[in-house]
Amino acid sequence: MVTLKEIFSEQEIRERTTALGKEISEVYKDEPLVIICVLKGAFLFFSDLVRNIKKDSQLELDFVRLASYGSSDKSSRTISFTKDIEVNVEGKNVLIVEDIVDTGLTMEFLLKQLSVRKAKSVKIAALLSKKARREKSIAIDFVGFYIQDGFLVGYGLDYAEKYRNLPCICEAQL
Ligand code: IMP
Repeated sequence: MVTLKEIFSEQEIRERTTALGKEISEVYKDEPLVIICVLKGAFLFFSDLVRNIKKDSQLELDFVRLASYGSSDKSSRTISFTKDIEVNVEGKNVLIVEDIVDTGLTMEFLLKQLSVRKAKSVKIAALLSKKARREKSIAIDFVGFYIQDGFLVGYGLDYAEKYRNLPCICEAQL
């Protein structure tokens, strides 16, 4: 049986996404921006964040899905696209919106891909930064919350595809 313990409430998440939206709006000001949602886990964070980013007609949104194969013991994992982005990012500012950066392998892969495609700049907004298992040094430009360790679910994050709909973020005791 899975036990859930609330770590970040719906209210805390709302306040944080509003603040991050403002911060991001100020960083990019009037520059065009492509925001990429990393499915599935970032879908709620992304939808709340983009509604707090003030831009008139300068915003393009896209979605990507990545899978990781191989041993779960980290560095031997291979990352690949199961759904690629559709927008042409060449010469554009890109903001990746991710649910959680854990080892950093997924973000490292996506950053490389965007660099190959000649994005003008790439920044990362992550709902959560989990430090304990980090293997790749990834600069996260906008962080919702820092956590040390633990398996989190809710607000987009799943355990075996469950709990994504929870409005809060909980630690799952498996
Ligand atoms: P990374 O490549 O190790 O940084 O892993 C990133 C992906 O692992 C995230 O996008 C999540 O899908 C998944 N993940 C890592 N930690 C958790 C967690 O605590 N709960 C749910 N998913 C997680």
